[in-house]
Amino acid sequence: MTRLTVNDRPVHFLMDGDTPLLWALRDAANLTGAKYGCGNGDCGACTVIIDGEAIRSCLVSLDEVEGRFVTTIEALSGDRSHPLQQAMAAEGAVQCGFCTPGFIMAGAALLAKNPRATREDIASAIPNLCPCGAGPRIVRAIERAGRAMRSRERLDSLPVPGLDPAEAALDVPAIEPEPAKTETSE
Ligand code: FES
Ligand code: FES
Repeated sequence: MTRLTVNDRPVHFLMDGDTPLLWALRDAANLTGAKYGCGNGDCGACTVIIDGEAIRSCLVSLDEVEGRFVTTIEALSGDRSHPLQQAMAAEGAVQCGFCTPGFIMAGAALLAKNPRATREDIASAIPNLCPCGAGPRIVRAIERAGRAMRSRERLDSLPVPGLDPAEAALDVPAIEPEPAKTETSE
């Protein structure tokens, strides 16, 4: 039995420990987003995220992922709102769609570490294959998602106008202390 966490849920796989993770996910867990392409680590269609790293799930056995945290495309975002999912749609980067989950998981892992990833960074970190020829659009989508994530970061770091206590304090006129009242006898 192999115990691991898949998409934030504890899972026990009752399969041989040398079963590739890809088959455990697809056949036993019914998570079919990761695709079987080449089966030898070349195409990247089977990419999932394991402990924050993009990994080709056809190349790792259940024994090798014992106790680890696996995320598949099904759990990247509940409503397809991840910036890279949005960017893939905006760039028209999905043709037949077979390579798409692998590219998205690899791109999401890269952008989580480096939203400033350049075209060269993307090419070296994501050597996935797209036989349909959508590769250039996919790269543009990853760049676009990086820009969106950086904009989000900038927005999140801005103070809310008028509610920042330090700023608000600047606008408040200093209050002159009232002169102390003294009792006078008339
Ligand atoms: S199926 Fe895993 S890399 Fe191609
Ligand atoms: S969109 Fe068809 S393999 Fe990439």
